[in-house]
Amino acid sequence: MTYLVLRNRDIPDIKEIDSYIANGGYEGLKKAVQMQPEDVITTVRDSGLRGRGGAGFPTGVKWNFIPKDAEEVYIAVNADESEPGTFKDREIMEENPHQLLEGSLIAAWATKAETIYIYIRGEYWDIADLLDEKIEEARAKGFIGQSILGTGWNCEVYTHRGAGAYICGEETALLNSLEGKRGQPRIKPPFPAVNGLYNKPTVINNVETLACVPYILDQGVEAFRQFGTEKSPGTKVFCMSGHVNNPGNIELPMGEEATFRKLIEMAGGMVDGIAPKGILPAGASAAILPATDEILDLPLDYESLQPYGTGLGSASVIILNETVDMVWAAQKMTTFFAHESCGQCTPCREGTYWLERVYERFDHQMADDQDIILLDNVAGQMTGKCICALGEFAVNPVRATIKHFPDDYKQAAARQAEQDAAPEPVAGD
Ligand SMILES: Cc1cc2nc3c(=O)[nH]c(=O)nc-3n(C[C@H](O)[C@H](O)[C@H](O)COP(=O)(O)O)c2cc1C
Ligand code: SF4
Repeated sequence: MTYLVLRNRDIPDIKEIDSYIANGGYEGLKKAVQMQPEDVITTVRDSGLRGRGGAGFPTGVKWNFIPKDAEEVYIAVNADESEPGTFKDREIMEENPHQLLEGSLIAAWATKAETIYIYIRGEYWDIADLLDEKIEEARAKGFIGQSILGTGWNCEVYTHRGAGAYICGEETALLNSLEGKRGQPRIKPPFPAVNGLYNKPTVINNVETLACVPYILDQGVEAFRQFGTEKSPGTKVFCMSGHVNNPGNIELPMGEEATFRKLIEMAGGMVDGIAPKGILPAGASAAILPATDEILDLPLDYESLQPYGTGLGSASVIILNETVDMVWAAQKMTTFFAHESCGQCTPCREGTYWLERVYERFDHQMADDQDIILLDNVAGQMTGKCICALGEFAVNPVRATIKHFPDDYKQAAARQAEQDAAPEPVAGD
């Protein structure tokens, strides 16, 4: 396997700048600064690189939205990594941090930005400290600071620690948080590329997305496109967790070579050999899939899961085995979203609250068939009515588990019916 992103698996000390440079590091940046910024954007666009933070938006297209005459541009690196089951950005930053810094600097050159903020989740405080060290290492070699590589271009990189809110991974909430405001999403449009941090044009990219960029500049578009598919080129880091023997990150080219079956195998197989029942392809936010042979053998890329009503997202794959009651699983995810809703819009704030209340009825064996209809009804009233995607994410665990695992709900509702039918205890029993 060729690692494009997790190169630390091949070169264990790549986090040290001398090792990174000895293994081709910062060559992409050196090539980029020899090019016109717009040619760098064209190269990234032609590579077909798509955002690894969840939405899969083409990176070069996003960079191209930055107005060419902008006087002040920012790069915001999304290192919030809060999706349940996602831990890929952590490995990149801990083990291959210069690749992220190099990718961010190339993004800055391409968009003529002079400031890069790395917004990192607060729980990763030790990684933020590490990144601060790595920034200084790169500065000492002339890759950060004044007149980078003798070009006359200045660029600074700062880390900014979040404070434990999932919603601050949403790009506009992240910008508000960076500005010192409450971390709540903004209404789009305007999009950050036009009106972002401090109302200036801003590129926001995920850590893994930016970590792909040095390879594209150094090795070229065709080299990148030899991996993956026409529409989803490159590799993807899949975060494997749940009922697998060896949870962890697995990097594979998207498409034929990456299937859930292969990922489970590479993650050491199922715990105690118990068969998989459900697959969460992207943590709590994308709809769960039943672990049928058809699903297990699907080639994974940004397109393949769409006909099944779900998506690859950040590829935080959580495998749930046959022992899992999907009503219980949906309740856990609903509680998460109710807790993380920023409360700004009524359908999300109230909807997640009421979904949580109805799931409590199932938990207390007080639910009946009407409660299944009620869940679906509340979820339906949230859909399409929220400012940001969290409101949509919150609906997914409810609707997808009702759709794919109706028997779990029927059994849960039947427990109440059994209780109702049981004879009243007689005094003295
Ligand atoms: C509720 C919510 C949470 C998100 N959390 C993250 C996150 O932790 N990391 C991330 O990179 N993107 C996250 N995103 C996606 C970002 O809004 C944005 O699409 C992404 O950072 C863009 O980078 P990319 O184009 O490189 O993927 C989240 C989106 C939503 C709606
Ligand atoms: S959908 Fe939810 S999380 Fe997003 S802005 Fe509205 S209330 Fe906040």
